[in-house]
Amino acid sequence: MALNTHHIVPLAIGLLLLACGSSTLDGTMAEDAGKSPGQRIFDMNCTLCHGRDGKLGLNGAKDLTASTLTKAEMIARVRLGKGAMMPYKDVLTAKEIDAVVEHVRALGKAK
Ligand code: HEC
Repeated sequence: MALNTHHIVPLAIGLLLLACGSSTLDGTMAEDAGKSPGQRIFDMNCTLCHGRDGKLGLNGAKDLTASTLTKAEMIARVRLGKGAMMPYKDVLTAKEIDAVVEHVRALGKAK
């Protein structure tokens, strides 16, 4: 009496592929989705010195979450620059500067 195992092996391989096949396709690409325009502008132009949370303080930059400037003063600071910070009035539109300053102000409120 010969036991035939040839039918069992392909089945086992099939189950193995099924188990490995359900890999992780989620998580990628979703990173940019929930961002406001202001946050995107901040990430591209400001994190170098200020960090993503505004607290980095590189090159003499101030902790943005601790800033006591009014919104109008912040807009002026971003437009005209100061010290190591370059002026952004020729880089960003007035609308973009308004959006990025709104984001900076939101950083300060979070916490
Ligand atoms: C090259 C580094 C650098 C980059 C890039 C930079 N900053 Fe600054 N930022 C500074 C420095 C330095 C200061 C402090 C200037 C001073 O008062 O002497 C500052 C100050 C500020 C202040 C004033 C904070 C306060 O309370 O005095 C604001 C607001 C600000 N930055 C926003 C921004 C925004 C928004 C961007 C992006 C559009 C940006 N910064 C990009 C270096 C930088």
